Amino acid sequence: MNLQEEVNKRRTFAIISHPDAGKTTITEQLLMFGGAIREAGTVKGKKTGNFAKSDWMDIEKQRGISVTSSVMQFDYAGKKVNILDTPGHEDFSEDTYRTLMAVDAAVMVIDSAKGIEAQTKKLFKVVKDREIPIFTFINKLDRDGREPLDLLEELEETLGIQSTPMNWPIGMGKAFEGLYDMHNHRIEMFKGDERFIELDEDGQVPEDNHLRQNPFYQQALDDIELIQEAGNPFDEEEVLAGELTPVFFGSALTNFGVQTFLDTFLEYAPIPHAHKTTEGEEISPYEPDFSGFVFKIQANMNPAHRDRIAFVRISSGEFQRGMDVKLARTNKKVKLSNVTQFMAESRENIESAVAGDIIGVYDTGTYQVGDTLLTGKQNFEYEPLPTFTPELFMRVSAKNVMKQKSFHKGIEQLVQEGAIQLYKNYQTNEYMLGAVGHLQFEVFQHRMINEYNAEVNMTPMGNKTVRWIKPEQLDEKMSSSRNILARDRFDNPLFLFENQFAERWFADKYPDVELSATPPTE
Ligand code: G4P
Repeated sequence: MNLQEEVNKRRTFAIISHPDAGKTTITEQLLMFGGAIREAGTVKGKKTGNFAKSDWMDIEKQRGISVTSSVMQFDYAGKKVNILDTPGHEDFSEDTYRTLMAVDAAVMVIDSAKGIEAQTKKLFKVVKDREIPIFTFINKLDRDGREPLDLLEELEETLGIQSTPMNWPIGMGKAFEGLYDMHNHRIEMFKGDERFIELDEDGQVPEDNHLRQNPFYQQALDDIELIQEAGNPFDEEEVLAGELTPVFFGSALTNFGVQTFLDTFLEYAPIPHAHKTTEGEEISPYEPDFSGFVFKIQANMNPAHRDRIAFVRISSGEFQRGMDVKLARTNKKVKLSNVTQFMAESRENIESAVAGDIIGVYDTGTYQVGDTLLTGKQNFEYEPLPTFTPELFMRVSAKNVMKQKSFHKGIEQLVQEGAIQLYKNYQTNEYMLGAVGHLQFEVFQHRMINEYNAEVNMTPMGNKTVRWIKPEQLDEKMSSSRNILARDRFDNPLFLFENQFAERWFADKYPDVELSATPPTE
């Protein structure tokens, strides 16, 4: 096998969006183009509201693929495409953020009637910070939505990224005629038998074409002229640097514009990039020795086995089934024998994979999020994954006082694994859990019972803002119910503020105390 050639075929990306923008619908279309599924509707069952009380199997059933099979691979146009799932708000957790650390590009799906929504904004920020390319798909053009120019303006203003439209809608909703495709110099027709109409040298449809009389066609030409004068031209370098997002319009439900998007996306989406070590060295994906890092650990469905899957992004070389690797954190050898790759409807045991691919490694408690796996004489660790400051909090205690030991063991392991974050009340030592999404609490509770036989009591504390303080400025008298003094798991002191007012009030009262949104680094 020619490693470089294989690596260059990989395109690994995530789709980010606010729930209901159409991520699942688009994913299904992409999988169909790739031949990975035969009909739409197989990726996700109907959404059901409440799963708080359900167990893994139920969560699985209710949400289908989104919990476990969160990576899908398919072949398309000579490329090996890996799509990583980033669940929507109900499922939202730190996993979602960390998954974005394992991709080389992101696709942002926006509902044309709603524009930029809360979840898109949060996810976008994580992607933007990584400086990876972001492609935008504005969906649901078959319905009435907002003016395209208005949407582009919002995109640039709210997200702070420049945009460059690749095609432009001609009408929308009932009057939707199709897309004026500047990139491919053609019109993609929504209605009628003809799929594409080539444009003439003036960028017009032929004289006798009915579109010439259509006011929306004229409107589109005017808009495009404006964009070409005042907007950003397509610039591949700026796209690759994550500074400019190419924008595509379409309608996923009617499978319109999705293939055009996919073709162009695959043309410009980057091949697997180099990853940095803690020493600042860049490890090339073409490096023959295998290396990778764990970005997510997922408890498996089978409670009898307590097994989990550690998701590994291969960052260099080739994985081969049964190979021995070194876990950099412990310097211990592990054999990678039970390894899966993911298809839409099944998991398959795989024999080999290369840099850019994601593999699922069977885990019995060996791995932690952020772990580096190495072969050969390599000796380094990849840069730590960023931690995401939790916003939701719960008090937690053991239901059965006789089970304190398993309670503590469970918490310790789940915190180490990165499933949830733990804080202790400075004065009372009471445990408080922090998460970025509710799902994390559910999963925590479920795994405590199933894997550690420890039932827990959890009391919601609501949203809090975490602010670290310097140990030398710590004064227990500053603590109150609106600003709870606590320690993180490394014993760093911090406050949990009830809201922004509480934080401002505190800052006024104790102007000398430095409040930091990030933990001390060392
Ligand atoms: P998500 O994964 O981002 O949450 O969104 P999903 O694809 O599940 O789509 C959310 C809803 O929007 C679905 O309708 C879906 O059919 C619809 N949708 C997606 N793309 C388009 C589009 O291009 N045009 C129109 N008109 N609708 C679109 P639903 O009724 O909520 O779900 P379902 O009952 O149809 O599954």
